[in-house]
Amino acid sequence: MKRFEAYLSQNLPQAPSFHPVYEAALGDMLSAGGKRFRPMLLLSIVDAYEPMLYEGALPVALALEMFHTYSLIHDDLPAMDDADLRRGHETLHKRYDEVTAILAGDALNTDAFLSIAQAPLREDIKIKLVTLLAQNGGGQGMVLGQAIDCYFENKPLNIEQIKVLHTNKTAKLIAASLQMGAVIVGLNVATQKGLYDFGIDLGLLFQIQDDIIDETQTAAEAGKPTGNDGDKNSFINLLGLEKTVQEADALAKDLQRRFETFDEKIQQALAPLMTKYLYRHKG
Ligand code: IPE
Ligand code: IPE
Ligand code: MG
Ligand code: MG
Ligand code: MG
Repeated sequence: MKRFEAYLSQNLPQAPSFHPVYEAALGDMLSAGGKRFRPMLLLSIVDAYEPMLYEGALPVALALEMFHTYSLIHDDLPAMDDADLRRGHETLHKRYDEVTAILAGDALNTDAFLSIAQAPLREDIKIKLVTLLAQNGGGQGMVLGQAIDCYFENKPLNIEQIKVLHTNKTAKLIAASLQMGAVIVGLNVATQKGLYDFGIDLGLLFQIQDDIIDETQTAAEAGKPTGNDGDKNSFINLLGLEKTVQEADALAKDLQRRFETFDEKIQQALAPLMTKYLYRHKG
């Protein structure tokens, strides 16, 4: 974690020009903090199997965080969730203006792929990494999820449809983070798939927990506005808080059981993250 934070702060986006705030805007939300959940998933796998590749994996982990941060910057825009606070800081469209926030998101999206392309890793591996990030983050992944999320505000979806929404907007990038770690260290395709499938349910849980946080935490605790999902197809709006917590508990329990079927190395690699995140909805 420390190594990732150091790498991130030494590799904030550079775009020097006579624009007074553009370069700062690219880095603001990256350096504002956040859980770094996606980079940590990837780096945990790499560290457990091939610590020698850790250095080469850092630009890929940074790419995940850049991509995720772009999705948050756009998620907060007035046209989407209209949020003033993110990671405990003013959102970019508040601090600067909407144009700057849109373009900072655009830049982080594109430059995430550049970060992978320039990583000191084998070319064939980098092509797989770029493919996974695009497949899970792009038009058939996170962006699709965000499209469904926004289009269906105030138009109630059923539970299966909400799972599709959450799987796309959140779970696919989390699943891809695990698989990308597995690709870097050369784990076989079956193991990659096992990690990806586990990641999908872990990501679904992560978004259900996020829906619970919207209901149960203050903005100061969450670092972002809460009580903000009134128009959304959240688990809370469909099932209520109590049932949503029960659902989250059941999913966490199932994930714990499946986690214990992974080989010893994967378990050791991911145990700290599982401990920290499986029951985070309990506060
Ligand atoms: C927030 O993601 C949006 C979701 C996909 C739930 P995180 O909860 O990972 O946000 P940060 O990165 O810690 O700020
Ligand atoms: C956003 O979900 C998921 C993204 C792809 C950014 P939310 O809208 O629930 O995320 P928060 O609660 O604003 O972090
Ligand atoms: Mg949203
Ligand atoms: Mg939001
Ligand atoms: Mg939310």
